[in-house]
Amino acid sequence: MVYSRITGTGSYLPARVVTNKDLEKTLDTTDAWIRERTGIKRRHIAAEGETSADMGLCAARKAIEMADIDVAEIDLIVVATSTPDKVFPSTACIMQRQLGIHGSPAFDIQAACSGFIYVLDIANRLIQTGGAKTALVVGSETMSRIVNWQDRGTAVLFGDGAGAVILQACEEPGILSTHIHSDGQYENLLEVPQGISSGFDTVRDGGAYIRMNGNAVFRKAVAMLGSAAKEILSKNGIDKSEVDWMVPHQANLRIITAAAKKLDLPMERVVVTVDEQANTSSASIPLALDTAVRDGRIMSGHLLLFGAFGAGFTWGSALVRY
Ligand code: ACO
Repeated sequence: MVYSRITGTGSYLPARVVTNKDLEKTLDTTDAWIRERTGIKRRHIAAEGETSADMGLCAARKAIEMADIDVAEIDLIVVATSTPDKVFPSTACIMQRQLGIHGSPAFDIQAACSGFIYVLDIANRLIQTGGAKTALVVGSETMSRIVNWQDRGTAVLFGDGAGAVILQACEEPGILSTHIHSDGQYENLLEVPQGISSGFDTVRDGGAYIRMNGNAVFRKAVAMLGSAAKEILSKNGIDKSEVDWMVPHQANLRIITAAAKKLDLPMERVVVTVDEQANTSSASIPLALDTAVRDGRIMSGHLLLFGAFGAGFTWGSALVRY
């Protein structure tokens, strides 16, 4: 039996930091409100011209270095992003060129904030069925490009960044299981209501910016994170007490806290980066993972529970022996 395991992690945050105090200058909001309702203190914002591929590449190089592999060994590149550099080619193909890799499959997946769980699921299955041996799996987002900076209800929530893992074939299971779900009936609760086939219009529906029913998304998010975690633990016959670290999608500290409470997981075993990075959509789980790996919290042999939800709605989970 072939399994896959994470052998390297990497992440990247743009240099520019925008604090809540900075946002006070342009929005009718306060640092206190943002901290209390979301737990967010600051976010990183991409420089002009800095793209999802650029950030993904920086994260990928760090993951490649940690895995101690030659770039030429990578035979699959999958990138989760809702903010690709171009309509085509894919961000994955752009990164493939930047890395100097030729011939391996490279493609993007769009599953909003659950994107990283989706690409992990796909890469894991391809490795298990012999389609690849060494996969570069990335989440990278320039959310600042689709944020309406005049809308205090959403502008305070998001940030830019990228995270990456190297997933390699092995004899012992690293990825124990992954579960992905969608329900398109919630389309209007969280969307960027513009696209290629419907035609970009800078005026219609408020422009190509994130639009969200915050309260409804909040309630759904807590329920989905909780049910995704319960589903994966029960399918693997694992008790929550065996989980060393929960690494959830970083949307809002209150959502994370409520989901951890539902699972009876103490916050000491939950990786939180939303305070420093805000919501980086599909990049948030690999960013949080890399942060906790590099600061020594996550160690070899630890059991990790990833959980995510996002527009669609999409949601999913992964159980990983690191
Ligand atoms: N500063 C000050 N006041 C604000 C701000 C702000 N930035 N934003 C909203 N308010 C006001 C509202 O206008 C409202 O005022 P009113 O009572 O006079 O009408 C009041 O604060 C309360 O608004 P609510 O929306 O009820 O506030 P809530 O406690 O629900 O918090 C929030 C809002 C933070 C958006 C919350 O609903 C939330 O986190 N939802 C989930 C968001 C999320 O996670 N989205 C992304 C998930 S999926 C993905 O990652 C893409």
